[in-house]
Order: sequence, then C-alpha cells, then structure tokens
Amino acid sequence: MVILMNDKTKKESSANIIKNLFHFLKPFKFYILIAFISIAIISGIEAYMPVMQKIAIDNFIILKSTVGLQVFLLKYIGLALSLLVLIYIFTIFGTKLELALVYSLREQAFKKLQHQSFSYFDRNADGWIMARVTSDIRRIGDIVAWGFIDLVWSIGYITGILFMMFKLNYKLSLVLLVLIPFLVIISIYFQKKILENQRKIRSVNSLITGAYNEGILGAKTSKILVNESKNIDEFNDLTTRMNRVSVRGAMTRALYLPMIIGLNSIGLIAVLGIGDNLIASNSITIGTLVLFINFTIMFFDPIQEFSRILAEIQGAHASFERVLELIHSDLDIVDSQEIIDKYGDINDKKIHNWEKLKGDVEFRNITFLYKDNEPILENFNLNVKAGETVALVGETGGGKSTIVNLACRFYEPTSGVVLIDGIDYKKRSQSWLHHNLGYVLQTPHLFSGTIMENISYGRPEAPFGDITDAAKLVKAHEFILKLPKGYDTEVGEGGNNLSTGQKQLISFARAILKNPSIFILDEATSSIDAESEKLIQEATNTILQGRTSFIIAHRLSTIVNADRILLIKGGKIVEEGDHRSLMSKKGGYYSLYTEQFNKF
Ligand SMILES: Nc1ncnc2c1ncn2[C@@H]1O[C@H](COP(=O)(O)OP(=O)(O)OP(=O)(O)O)[C@@H](O)[C@H]1O
Ligand SMILES: [Mg+2]
Repeated sequence: MVILMNDKTKKESSANIIKNLFHFLKPFKFYILIAFISIAIISGIEAYMPVMQKIAIDNFIILKSTVGLQVFLLKYIGLALSLLVLIYIFTIFGTKLELALVYSLREQAFKKLQHQSFSYFDRNADGWIMARVTSDIRRIGDIVAWGFIDLVWSIGYITGILFMMFKLNYKLSLVLLVLIPFLVIISIYFQKKILENQRKIRSVNSLITGAYNEGILGAKTSKILVNESKNIDEFNDLTTRMNRVSVRGAMTRALYLPMIIGLNSIGLIAVLGIGDNLIASNSITIGTLVLFINFTIMFFDPIQEFSRILAEIQGAHASFERVLELIHSDLDIVDSQEIIDKYGDINDKKIHNWEKLKGDVEFRNITFLYKDNEPILENFNLNVKAGETVALVGETGGGKSTIVNLACRFYEPTSGVVLIDGIDYKKRSQSWLHHNLGYVLQTPHLFSGTIMENISYGRPEAPFGDITDAAKLVKAHEFILKLPKGYDTEVGEGGNNLSTGQKQLISFARAILKNPSIFILDEATSSIDAESEKLIQEATNTILQGRTSFIIAHRLSTIVNADRILLIKGGKIVEEGDHRSLMSKKGGYYSLYTEQFNKF
C-alpha cells in the first residue's frame, strides 16, 4: 500500500519565485558576490590557458627561440597559482552560501510549523512536511549555490573562448559558432530527458523502499492473514517498472554522447580542413590551429554543464514552490494584533499582563466541523465550574477528543464561543491558555533525551526538586530511580526505551510540573499492565485535586469519583450526572459500565 500525498502545490510564476529568492538571498549577497567574482575569473583563466599553449608552440617549439621564456614561465605559474587560490575561495564561499541558505529556509519553515495549529497537521501528512524541510530545501540550497556558480562558470568560459577565438581568427571562429546552437539544443533536450528519467527512477525507488519497509514491518501480519503472495506480486510489479525506467534512462544517455561526439567531430573536421588552407596561405600559425582544435574539444564541457543546470533549475523551481507554500501558509488560529500587543506572542510573552486563570470553562452554542466535513458538534453547550472534574465517556468517534481540543483552542469553534473564566478565549492569547493547561494526550509523545528533560519540557527552568516532586506526585519517582541512570536515563526516540505505562506516567509528571489550572487526560485506549494501571489511577486522583479537569476515560473505573460524567454520542451529551445517579438511571452509562465489568 502506498500513501498518496496531497500534492496540489500552488503554482508560482517564475517572476514571483525569483522575487522570493532575492528576498531570501539578500542577507548573503557578500558570499554570492565573492563566489561569483572568483568563478568568473576562473573561467576566464581556464579559457586563456590554451592561448598560453599556442604561444609556447609558436615561439618556443617551432621557432626554437628562448626570448621571453622566463616571463612566459612566470606568467604561467602566476596563472596556475591564481587558479588554486580562486578555487579555494569559491569553494569556501559557495559552501557558506549553500549552508546559510539551507539554514535560513529550514529555520523559517520550522518557525512556521511551530506556529501552526493542529488542523495544519491534520491536512498535511508528516511525510509531506518532512520532504519539504529536508529534500526540497536541500535541492534549493544545492542549485542556488552550486548551480548558479556553475552557470556563471559555463557562461564565462564560453564567452572567454569566443572572445579569444574571434581575436585570433574570425573565419575559424564562425565555423564553431554555427555549431553552438545545435550543441545547446541537443544538450538541453537530452539533459531534460535524463533528469526526468532520474526523477522517475527516484520515485520508483522510494516505492520499492516503501514496499520493503511494509514487507518487513508487516511481515507477521501478512503471514497471519496469508497475504504473502499478493505482497510478492506487488513487489514484482515495482521491480519491473524499475527495470523499464532504468533501461530507458540508459538508452537516452547512450544516444546523447555519440550525438555530441559526432557534432564535435564535424567541428574538428571543419577546423582542420579550413585551418590547413589557412596555414598553407600563412594566414595562421600552427599554434593557432592547435588552439582552435583545443577550443573545439573544450566547448562541449560548459555547454553540457549549462544545459544540465537549466534542466535542474526546473526541478528546483518545483521544490521552491513547495517550500514557499509551507513558509507562506496561513495560520488557522491567530491572535489579533491587539491581543499580541497586550499579551505577547510565543516569542515574546508578556506574562506580566496575563490574568490568573481560575478554570471556569463554558461551551456556548458551539458548532464545529473539521474542514469541509459533516458537523461533529451542533449547538453544543456545557458549563464546567472551576475545580470540577468532568468525565467524558462514550463510543469511539463520538466527539470526546474534539470537545477537549476545542476547550484547549487547538481548534476553534466554527460558530459559538468558548468562555474561560467568563470571557471568550479569543480575547486572550493562545499562549496564555496553553501556559495554564496540562494535557496528557491519547498517545503521549516523549522526545528523545533524558527523563528529566522530558518532564521539564514545558518548564525548562524548573529546579530539579520540582521535577522530582512532580514525579513523586504521579508515582513515577520509584520506577525512574530503578532505571540505570535514574533521571538521566535516555528515553530513546519517541520514548521507545520505556513501556507504555511508563511513558504515560512521565507525561503525567510533565503535565503536572506546569501546575496547570486546567488538566486534560485523554486516556490511552491501548491496555497497560495492571500494576501501571493502578499507578496511573492513583496519579490521576492526585492530579485532579484543585483544578478543572476533563477526563476522557475508556476504563470506567478511572472516573467513578468524577463530579460529573457525560455520556457522549454523535457529538451530543446523551446522559449526565455522577456515577451513582447514572447507575441508578439504568441507561446508556449503566449498560456501558456493567458490560465492561462483566468482561473481567
Ligand atoms: N482531524 C480530524 N479531521 C477530520 N475528522 C476528524 C478529525 N479528528 C476526528 N475526526 C472525526 O470526528 C469525529 C469525532 O472524533 P473524536 O476524535 O472526537 O472521537 P472520540 O470520541 O475522541 O473517539 P475515541 O474514543 O476513539 O478517541 C469522528 O467521526 C472522527 O472521524
Ligand atoms: Mg479520542
């Protein structure tokens, strides 16, 4: 199975791309200037080198004179040394330019992603975003730094050669000039084809890698479901496609080279034929003829390079469109300028202006739909008093997570208002609310790093004592101490070195360290061992005290003590009350509860 990504990237005109590129390159104009000047001088020297050979042949070899030999040698050494120094300079500045540009684009993309709300990550798959910040940005850095340097080199080189040729003999030059358009047209055509093919090979290759991954990771599932032969067929299809595109690529290359060599040979024959006559009539020297032969051979390189870059610029254009789309994407949830002026934004929080959050939460006439879908909530009303513990239970897909995500302003209601402490939460900054919020996600995420770093993630400046206090409160302290390095134990990527229950407890400690006024627990559906469950149960009870809490529970034992239990079905509250009253009602909650307990 292959995940198809949405790839309706907004098309940008070349003018717009260039405008944006200039904007991004502005801070690095010094690097560009140095790199371009040095590569331009290099191309000039390289084009001049064959002229030195001509002088050597005509003066020192044919005439056997030694007059001016010393000056000649000094000039030659001087040119060679300049080349060395200039190559060093352009390599350094080209690299600086590439790194700086990649860094600046990644930084801007990363900043934008940090500001994006949940809905952005719903719309765009992780892989889609990753491809933009990694390979697309890398390609832009590569083509802008090295591609443009090569472009300057090839243009400089061709101009240099043409200049030298016309200075020496215009008749011979005209012969080569006629060849140039053919060389350019053929090269551009083939370079484009070659690049298209490389792209196809890359995309089939990533499909094969994907199939390998699925085949290996899902090997057990496939075996259990006896689906191995289908996997093998799919894989065979892919390898056949790979074979086809690779052969086509090889054929294109196999055609290209002989054509160029053929054109070159025509040029050589013409130069030799005409040159022979010119020597016979004493119009040119042997050195000049050798020079022209060299030029004819040298011509191919910069033209090939020039065409390759033109073809690659198209690919980079597409990459740039994709990256710009990310960097310029609109934010779904924004604070108004007035709010930012008063409360600050995530970079500059004006905490001194933040009101204390008491914890009253009210949903008033909320209607909510995820982009373009059916409404999940319609005219939803709920009033929660500060300090109250509200449990949400009910069938999967009923809207429980949606309700709490709205309370957290991870999404905003399509219509209606959410009031916190009696005031529409859009009248305060997002940071203000999130600062006062502790949220344990349905699937808690730990970052690679130590346990201590993970607990203090929301309050990096927290003293060690506070961190251990939080861990003790949620009963995580004991198991942490038993780990080989205690609080300095690395949790591994995504917390993989820890069990599910341990990850839960760490995320509890992380939430509680912020001492939030509103606490949200979206209980994991995956089962954990009885020991961890008991710990988590105790941890939850401690955390709830003194704050507004929303508990989404799958194990109903968690919530028997909640102040209020809401049974949610199809985005509506169908039953409401505490455990005792709901049980005596013998309705939906009663059936859910007895059903769950009969299972054990
Ligand atoms: N990001 C999203 N984009 C579009 N639709 C969504 C999104 N998240 C949830 N939904 C839809 O909204 C409805 C409510 O989902 P929600 O996650 O709130 O259910 P839930 O009660 O938390 O379920 P569970 O108990 O399985 O966690 C479902 O029909 C779901 O398909
Ligand atoms: Mg949920």
